[in-house]
Amino acid sequence: MTTPAPTSRLAVDAADDNTVTVTAHRCDTYRIHLAQGLVADGLSDHLSALASQLNAPEIIVVIDTGAAEHHLGAITAAVVHAGLQLRVVPVRAGESSKSPEGWAKLIGALHRHGTTRRTLLLGVGGGMVCDLVTATAATYMRGVPYALVPTTVLAQVDAAIGGKGGIDYGGAKNLIGTFHHPAGVYIDPSLTSTLPHRHIRAGLAEVIKVALITDPRLLATLERTGNPLPDGQVLTEIVRDAIAAKLMLLAPDPFEQKDLRRLLNLGHCIGHPYEAATGYRILHGEAVAVGTAVAAAHTYLIGESELEDRDRILNLLAAYQLPVTIPEQMRDAVWDGMDTVRRVRNGPLHLVLPHRPGHCTVTDDMDRPAFDKALNDLAARS
Ligand SMILES: NC(=O)c1ccc[n+]([C@@H]2O[C@H](COP(=O)([O-])OP(=O)(O)OC[C@H]3O[C@@H](n4cnc5c(N)ncnc54)[C@H](O)[C@@H]3O)[C@@H](O)[C@H]2O)c1
Repeated sequence: MTTPAPTSRLAVDAADDNTVTVTAHRCDTYRIHLAQGLVADGLSDHLSALASQLNAPEIIVVIDTGAAEHHLGAITAAVVHAGLQLRVVPVRAGESSKSPEGWAKLIGALHRHGTTRRTLLLGVGGGMVCDLVTATAATYMRGVPYALVPTTVLAQVDAAIGGKGGIDYGGAKNLIGTFHHPAGVYIDPSLTSTLPHRHIRAGLAEVIKVALITDPRLLATLERTGNPLPDGQVLTEIVRDAIAAKLMLLAPDPFEQKDLRRLLNLGHCIGHPYEAATGYRILHGEAVAVGTAVAAAHTYLIGESELEDRDRILNLLAAYQLPVTIPEQMRDAVWDGMDTVRRVRNGPLHLVLPHRPGHCTVTDDMDRPAFDKALNDLAARS
């Protein structure tokens, strides 16, 4: 099965001799394929169909060095079996590759390999590679096609979904970036079996987030499956439900043009500055867990949630051994970093408040005493 090609159209309306209204319409359609064992059985056929639809005789695999250690062989076998020419560009593991330098290095490699607009890029790795490849595919030659094989839980449930590319700059997460939808996304949850447990837990923090916003049933599944960590068919179902929940939340505003008060930001207003303040030593999902916990503590303290709902959130994060507070000595740095989030959101923080499963709202801002009070409350619990 092939993905329909993107369609676009320009509508030109001459209001009078001096004014013309130009409207550019663009419609991107892509398929997300999800199955246990998809890389070994199915990826080759999907790539062959996609490459033939794009008229692309060659695939450049852009792969995270950590993912390459375990999965490069299977990925290259799928590309070769599809009868496509193959080149491999490794990207050094770690958030520091999601930087202007990392972007320029990748652009340089594509240029050296003679990449054209008929070359298909295949990003293979976690959220770092998904964001970097999306941003690079959007900008190289003003846009080349790309597909993704996400290899971390976090990338499978979140970073590979939605077409958001980003690069960190000046200590701020994703300050440079754009939307550029992939031509296909191929998700094989069995790839995550080679991840350290800490990374699986961090990925599941994003699932907890999306379940808190939209899906109490998924939240209940997570409460049943914390120990041991989910794998196999259970993990596949969790990934499927998390993707469905994310797509539902993206649907009204896929390019984030209308509404800056987005529920999907739960845990991120505080999580992003915390992640940056640690120099990316903590994982993205861990930072989101901390941001969610602080938001849950604040929601209770301002009388907008019940104690049992707050505790349900904190207990679930604890069951997945996720961090829930910010060390005292980092509070000032995180608070300062929250100013960048306010700037990006044109003034207010737009903090997402989790009231109870399936019900979150957005409050404009949080002052410093309230921030400290929530953190003190969390510290007192631990
Ligand atoms: N675009 C979006 O919508 C979106 C959403 C959420 C997060 N993100 C971004 O995602 C990034 C975090 O992603 P992440 O948590 O996946 O981190 P990551 O991409 O840095 O990967 C984490 C580690 O896992 C290793 N790895 C990857 N796959 C592996 C595998 N199968 N087996 C063993 N090791 C493997 C990598 O080498 C790396 O060391 C952040 O930059 C964050 O901003 C983007």
